Amino acid sequence: MATSSQSGLHEKLAAILGICQKMNSERDLGALLDLMAREATNFLDCDRASIFLLDRERNELWSKVALGSDEILRFDARFGIAGQAVLTGNPVNVPDAYSHPQFYTAIDGRTGYRTRNVLAVAVRNQKGQIIGAFEALNKRIGAFGPRDEEALAALASHAAIAIETAQLIGELRRNQDELAQQNANLWREVESKYSTHGIIGTGPKIQQVVRLVERIRDSLVNVLITGESGTGKELVAKAVHYTSPRARRSFVALNCAALPDTLVESELFGIEKGVATGVQSRVGHIEKADGGTLFLDEIADLSLAAQAKILRVLQERVLERVGGRSPISVDVRVLAATNKDLEAEIVKGTFREDLYYRIKVVHIHMPPLREIRGEIPLLANHFLKEYCREAGGQPMEFSPALVRRLAVAAWPGNVRQLRNEVMRLAACARQPVITEDDLPEGAPAPGRESPPATAAPRQSLKRAVAELEMRMIAETLAATRNNQQQAARLLGLSRQGLINKMKRYSIVE
Ligand SMILES: Nc1ncnc2c1ncn2[C@@H]1O[C@H](COP(=O)(O)OP(=O)(O)OP(=O)(O)O)[C@@H](O)[C@H]1O
Ligand SMILES: [Mg+2]
Repeated sequence: MATSSQSGLHEKLAAILGICQKMNSERDLGALLDLMAREATNFLDCDRASIFLLDRERNELWSKVALGSDEILRFDARFGIAGQAVLTGNPVNVPDAYSHPQFYTAIDGRTGYRTRNVLAVAVRNQKGQIIGAFEALNKRIGAFGPRDEEALAALASHAAIAIETAQLIGELRRNQDELAQQNANLWREVESKYSTHGIIGTGPKIQQVVRLVERIRDSLVNVLITGESGTGKELVAKAVHYTSPRARRSFVALNCAALPDTLVESELFGIEKGVATGVQSRVGHIEKADGGTLFLDEIADLSLAAQAKILRVLQERVLERVGGRSPISVDVRVLAATNKDLEAEIVKGTFREDLYYRIKVVHIHMPPLREIRGEIPLLANHFLKEYCREAGGQPMEFSPALVRRLAVAAWPGNVRQLRNEVMRLAACARQPVITEDDLPEGAPAPGRESPPATAAPRQSLKRAVAELEMRMIAETLAATRNNQQQAARLLGLSRQGLINKMKRYSIVE
């Protein structure tokens, strides 16, 4: 007798263990609920079983209507036999469903099923909180007994862990999907912001740049971008990267002019731990750009030693970290920019000719703003819109007279200076239409195309002098490529005197 009940217990435990293993390997909540219902039906030798989960916010119990269906049944958690198990935490064993006051006859009515007897137990998580109920319907022979109560309670205690794991995984998956969606949206935004759409200009010079960027979109050739300061070299470099097959890999920009000689190598190539006391290992910019694009800004400022090392990386596609023993292979596409005349630097011996030809596979030249004055109205309105969008205030516009003034002004700082001026005007504007009155006295300076002072008889002498000063300063700065020392000497001013005047007339350095 003892042996047979022991072997019966043994079988039950083995069955529960088997069910638990199956439950723990199911990660999808819907499939898990189906699995539990199926296993409980077999285990208790009954007709049906279901799990009801408690929705605490709405105080409702919900369950899948039938195995394999996605239809959800919901009802008030205070009612029904499952509800009573949740409410009291005790098993509820009902041998005759229709005579029990808590029995929901409506559910049978909806599903067309005839419930005879019901057994429900609460499902508790590891913290002891009730998270739902496990319910079995219609014992095949007779009614549910105390052993069925024990068996269902044992299943319910294991079910809780599997349910919570599946819920957590479901939540993580939903979060992950949401993040992937957000990430895809952000990428689309970045790509459209930095693609050729961001390069404003309808005239031939800008359109030629746009067409060139689009023509090389599928190739990974190195590109040299030249042009004065503020003409959009970095903007174009980003457009080249973000329209290329590498758009979703890194774009690493390195300003070579800002690198002291002592740091060039470790910044570019990285450094191994322990090269000097306290030195931690660091990945260099070239390695960070592996698989993506390295933008070497102000490349003319690299020392000859650093140029030689970069050339080696471009030729052999390997680098060595400072203090490193083994070469690391890298695959970088190089875009380089400079406002200097590299051919003149080669003649002077400060730039390597072989590196020049490596990086100048394609050459993009950005025109100074004085050569593309026709774009000024478009650019000014574009920056004003950008300001309004970012500041989030009411829309603003420029008066036509102001736009004409901007179009003839000297812009030694090129598009960047124009953008700064637009931002300043927009920030200081008191009305939605920004007019000439919003300009600081006399600024910005008229450029070459403006009529001479004598042709404007209604101007005050003070204003005419201011305009002449501005024009001379702007032109001298342009002629000396923004060399303030040289410009000041040519104008017969001290450097500080020149800087003061530039500030007064909003001429950006
Ligand atoms: N054609 C253009 N369309 C829209 N924005 C432009 C254009 N050209 C330049 N800009 C804007 O002008 C500013 C300066 O451009 P960028 O930084 O690319 O110039 P740069 O040539 O790299 O200057 P620097 O030599 O000083 O580094 C940026 O805000 C850029 O977005
Ligand atoms: Mg730049």
